[in-house]
Amino acid sequence: MDTKYLYINTIGCQMNHYDSDQIAAVLRPLEYQMTPLMEMADLIIVNTCAIREKAEQKVFSFLGRLADIKRSKPDLLIGVGGCVAQQEGAGIMERMGHVDLVFGTSAISRLPRLIEQIESERCQVIDVDMSEGIDEFDFVGNESDNGEVTRFVTIMQGCDNFCSYCVVPYVRGRETSRESGKIINEIRTLVKAGVREVTLLGQNVNSYGKKEGLLTFSRLLELVNEVDGLLRIKFTTSHPKDLSKDLMFAFKDLEKLCKHIHLPVQSGSNRVLEMMNRKYTRELYLEKVKKLRTICPEIAITSDIIVGFPGETKHDFEQTLELIKEVRFDGLFAFKYSDRPNVTATRLPEKISEQEKRERLKEVLDLQDYYTTQANEALVGSEEKILVEGYSKKQKVVDLHGGRQNFQWTGRTSTNKIVNFVQGDGGISGDEIMAGRLVSIRIMKAFSHSLWGEPVKATNIPLGLRGEKTHVA
Ligand code: 5AD
Ligand code: SF4
Repeated sequence: MDTKYLYINTIGCQMNHYDSDQIAAVLRPLEYQMTPLMEMADLIIVNTCAIREKAEQKVFSFLGRLADIKRSKPDLLIGVGGCVAQQEGAGIMERMGHVDLVFGTSAISRLPRLIEQIESERCQVIDVDMSEGIDEFDFVGNESDNGEVTRFVTIMQGCDNFCSYCVVPYVRGRETSRESGKIINEIRTLVKAGVREVTLLGQNVNSYGKKEGLLTFSRLLELVNEVDGLLRIKFTTSHPKDLSKDLMFAFKDLEKLCKHIHLPVQSGSNRVLEMMNRKYTRELYLEKVKKLRTICPEIAITSDIIVGFPGETKHDFEQTLELIKEVRFDGLFAFKYSDRPNVTATRLPEKISEQEKRERLKEVLDLQDYYTTQANEALVGSEEKILVEGYSKKQKVVDLHGGRQNFQWTGRTSTNKIVNFVQGDGGISGDEIMAGRLVSIRIMKAFSHSLWGEPVKATNIPLGLRGEKTHVA
């Protein structure tokens, strides 16, 4: 069989990036090989996001561009997967007649069959069936084949929370957890291939296993912590209402668990939180933050904020600003509210004008910039363990030691802050491969979104060197 080329455009969250890896893995037996060049592709898949209006617009403008390409290359197959596919179904083909396949968020395991059908019958196919629940298939194809240090691992799908602005429960279905054995096996496979850090993914990881009577999330973390060769564990996302004491203690007790939590608050006003159906108050959120910081003082906390929710008054918005000042987040993602299909907030009156939303967004981001910079500056002079992820994007070849070339590398602290440094400083010789290693770095400079440091002499034993089989399960 001839090799065919697959190009995937992933729009949206980490969950979609994980799904794209799975799509590539299930299509490998059909001789589809990934290409980074869209012009080379025989099959283009767009993995779509419906969370905000802007992401959905991006999907349709990309699909529009593909119409021209398909006119000059009629054999090209075009597939649309993910949340917009789930939401719109046949509507996508009505709008975009050049699309061959629409497949929903639960159809990845059925993809080979769907593609084979299109290849042989040259027909249009739609599969947005969600009745089989979690899209569990054999993850054997999920080994890291491109030398990545860090990978995502889905531990649960869907969501039962029905926040009034959110489309996720409609496009990802009911909350379903994967069995811990499958999760651990997948992580072991990744580690064997050189992965050193995993991020466990779920819409609300704190309720992992509750419905199915499986392990608790904290117990799952303990099991992941025992995987030999793995250096770091991260997870996202946590719902404040379900953040348990056990999990707070896990940050203190599990040495591989990174000291960072993404804890979306969405608003600082109890009135708005109620309208959002978030099921916690501002006071409860602040109390949980306080407890967390008492148990683990180094923890970095980031959050999401929605500005301009229908009916959000100036006073409500002020309360969000006050909460940001009180918590002093390490980082923040802020979004202008947008109406989404099916969700109840779309039917609420008192919509806030675009202009007002824009101004509120700017105010939140400006305020947060101050705290992000402060959190970064507080690290100047300290020594941090960095997991090196690879060459820095802003690669400059720096000649530090008598003509030897040294490279700029990038990695993260346990608190998820980006640190760049130059190899060759601090006793690491210029020709060592740094990716996948934990190195000690003295932080020298703070910028708004990254740090600059120098390796600390003598402390940089080659921990977790890539390919070091003795560390690997
Ligand atoms: N409008 C704006 N932001 C939204 N989010 C989710 N739904 C919407 C919406 N309709 C934001 C929330 C969530 C993040 C992933 O996206 O802040 O935490
Ligand atoms: Fe959406 Fe709320 Fe579920 Fe998060 S918890 S995915 S915001 S419904």
